[in-house]
Amino acid sequence: MRTQVGIVGAGPAGLVLGLLLAREGIESVVLESRSREYIEHRVRAGVLEQGTVDCLAASGVGERLQREGMVHHGLFLRWDGYSHRIALSDLTGGRGITLYGQQEVVKDLVAERVEDGRELLFEVSDVRVEDFDGDEPAIRFTDATGAEQVLRCDVIAGCDGFHGLCRPTVETALRVYEREYPFGWLGILAEAAPSSDELVYCHHERGFALQSMRPPDLTRLYLQVAPDEELERWPDERVWEELHTRFAGDDGFDVAEGAVVEKGITPMRSFVAEPLRHGRLFLAGDAAHIVPPTGAKGLNLAVADVRVLADGLAHWYSTGDGSRLDSYSDRCLRRVWRVQHFSWWMTRMLHRLPGEDPFEPMLQRSQLEYVCSSHAAATSLAENYVGLELEL
Ligand code: APR
Ligand code: PHB
Repeated sequence: MRTQVGIVGAGPAGLVLGLLLAREGIESVVLESRSREYIEHRVRAGVLEQGTVDCLAASGVGERLQREGMVHHGLFLRWDGYSHRIALSDLTGGRGITLYGQQEVVKDLVAERVEDGRELLFEVSDVRVEDFDGDEPAIRFTDATGAEQVLRCDVIAGCDGFHGLCRPTVETALRVYEREYPFGWLGILAEAAPSSDELVYCHHERGFALQSMRPPDLTRLYLQVAPDEELERWPDERVWEELHTRFAGDDGFDVAEGAVVEKGITPMRSFVAEPLRHGRLFLAGDAAHIVPPTGAKGLNLAVADVRVLADGLAHWYSTGDGSRLDSYSDRCLRRVWRVQHFSWWMTRMLHRLPGEDPFEPMLQRSQLEYVCSSHAAATSLAENYVGLELEL
């Protein structure tokens, strides 16, 4: 087998990269270890930045997203029983976010790829990336029928997520920055219309809580829990009780209950592995970095990486000039660190730290009050939340 770009992983990073390359007339093959069914139903975050939506729409996969996705112009920060609105669009010259589940984005991308007849192999195993120090890299793998295959290509894109094999392959050449948080998020998806039209990020003495949604009629809710929390300890009744307690207030707001159709625990981590380029192997998305979900940035950062990569590859293929590939890592890392800081800052402002001294919640309270009362501070949150514009 031979292609121009060999892509490992069919998450948002790998699929969007393949799409952008196809629009530039560049061939790719995507290799995915899971089944199509599995990746299309994996429940993850659901907030798309304006730039992500615009990129998907401009590439021809925005039709269902623009029909079913819900555009939000603001969000709420809630503490002491009151919600305070951050007017995202008013503060950012009209930019907003779109609520649309990551698995819906994945479904749209897979459908487009399959329809267009571009190669996407599911259930591959024993993937190895080789010879990326030279001009003829190769990906060896076992296909779904059990046959050994070799995919030769010009470059390899490691889009295989945090638990993939591309990053470990270059481990000794990486500088790693990492922070683990002493808590996780328990998330549920419930068959109930959300009781607020916009997201509600809630700071409470018992811990953080968040109300989000999946259009048209599902509520997505999260609770801060211990990092090693066991799901069995959280029957639905306990989840609802805790949600009611944390969201309670004097303004009548409450979360609406409904049948729980999904429940899981997500660990919280900040992680960056630099650089993103190793010869002809390029890391992108969760393979290179992880942010805690408080800023809703994971998918958006993955898309930003591959937009930079597709731009560099298109320039290289059309002119022979590799300078935009040489700067790939640095260009991505500037955005990655901005988003790392924002995600860490949101996380720090909203969660309770086990064993913290009484000073910490006072600082958090002051920060929340400042963000909700100062135009400058609110604008800073808003421009980061809707996503800083990507310069290509
Ligand atoms: N070979 C082939 N595919 C692999 C391998 C492997 N050895 N290891 C992992 N994969 C696949 C995973 O099954 C997954 O489908 O790579 C894909 C990586 O996708 P994501 O984990 O979604 O990562 P990415 O595309 O970078 O998207 C980032 O995903 O983690 C979420 O919420 C996070 O929004 C963020 C987004
Ligand atoms: C979600 O809808 O899943 C979601 C929303 C906002 C976040 C994280 C997750 O910050």
